[in-house]
Amino acid sequence: MSTIFPEHFLWGGAVAANQVEGAYLTDGKGLSTSDLQPQGVFGPVVERHAGDSGIKDVAIDFYHRYPEDIKLFAEMGFRCLRTSIAWTRIFPQGDEGQPNEAGLAFYDRLFDEMARYHITPLITLSHYEMPYGLVKNHGGWGSRDTIDYFERYARTVFQRYRHKVKHWLTFNEINMSLHAPFTGVGLPEGSSRQAIYQAIHHQLVASARAVKACHEIIPDGRIGNMLLGGLLYPLSCKPEDMLETLQQNREWLFFGDVQARGAYPAYMARFFTDQNIQVTITPQDRTDLRETVDFISFSYYMTGCVTTDQALNNQARGNILNMVPNPHLASSDWGWQIDPVGLRLLMNELYDRYRKPLFIVENGLGARDKVEADGSINDDYRIRYLNDHLVQVGEAIKDGVEVLGYTCWGPIDLVSASKAEFSKRYGFIYVDRDDQGNGTLERRRKKSFHWYAGVVKSNGATL
Ligand code: BG6
Repeated sequence: MSTIFPEHFLWGGAVAANQVEGAYLTDGKGLSTSDLQPQGVFGPVVERHAGDSGIKDVAIDFYHRYPEDIKLFAEMGFRCLRTSIAWTRIFPQGDEGQPNEAGLAFYDRLFDEMARYHITPLITLSHYEMPYGLVKNHGGWGSRDTIDYFERYARTVFQRYRHKVKHWLTFNEINMSLHAPFTGVGLPEGSSRQAIYQAIHHQLVASARAVKACHEIIPDGRIGNMLLGGLLYPLSCKPEDMLETLQQNREWLFFGDVQARGAYPAYMARFFTDQNIQVTITPQDRTDLRETVDFISFSYYMTGCVTTDQALNNQARGNILNMVPNPHLASSDWGWQIDPVGLRLLMNELYDRYRKPLFIVENGLGARDKVEADGSINDDYRIRYLNDHLVQVGEAIKDGVEVLGYTCWGPIDLVSASKAEFSKRYGFIYVDRDDQGNGTLERRRKKSFHWYAGVVKSNGATL
């Protein structure tokens, strides 16, 4: 069978510690910002008390069941698994002098298990969580000290896993801080743009320092950034709409520009002046930022439209980036617009802009699944969604884009990030749990499980 996917293409799936592991206080783990948002990224921040519970506290109990899950991933032929390290397992409060050995030992066991099946780990240092101790006692990423605490954490895990993990990512969807400041940078909702951009600056410096540390400690490793690929189209060809679209796309591309090109892009000077934002950037920060990522990774779920028509803008705001819906596209049950061609456009845009290899580290369909009387789950809608997107990945490869791999989001059902729902399922593997936390946690193969196994086995020829 002929295929245009490269021979060593890293097919796999992606999860995140706080959405699968559970065991939120086990083996010395500290509370993370995610633990304080039991209703998800867009839910309230609540203090935790002994005896209370949230759906993420157990999640899918990956902390204890990972051998069974990795075996199932291996059965699908996974060559790669993306997950994150929970920073709070390693430094429970964030500012300790010494790491927590029990937390380090857990990830040793996890990476060893992946190695048994020749599954390459792709590890995110911070996926939508940080130690709550750093928020409470230091002001989160608002404080410059957090850069040092993060660097200590990054160096600790690079040193510990340097022989086991060669592929790393710094911050998950780093541009989300603009929309969810508590999750992204540990600042309260409603913080000023000034405070958010200063915190983002600290995080960008920390990201660059982690890249440097990775290059020093793991010379044969590769480290990338991670962007929420929120490509926006103009709703009309009115020049004003085109200009507004350029500016709104720059809001998220800015992060990639700094991380891949090593300096603030020229357009940010005007943006900061217009918005009356003053970011303190030291000469040492500018030097640190010059250490650029080796590859660009991103998530892709949808596109949206931009208009200067305020009436339309006020009407139709629903999804995570407050985009105006595209009249030519259908939407998922959660209102996320489905646009496979957008993925090809995005890949071309990012590759043209950065000339660095890409890694698609999230893509998928959150949907309600039905277990039939005979126990089967016939998720043809998920197969269709993923197939259509992967066909476009193939087209982008034909366009000349260099792609390292594809890890679809949530190969096993997990707790959703936005609202901490369980009914929004992404998996090839069904997990018996509902929004109230009821269920046996038993795993079950869906129809898409067999479909994806075929795709991986044929290196994309069956698409
Ligand atoms: C990305 C995140 O925003 O999208 C994931 O990196 C998240 O953590 C995924 O789960 C899908 O979003 P949701 O809200 O459907 O889980």
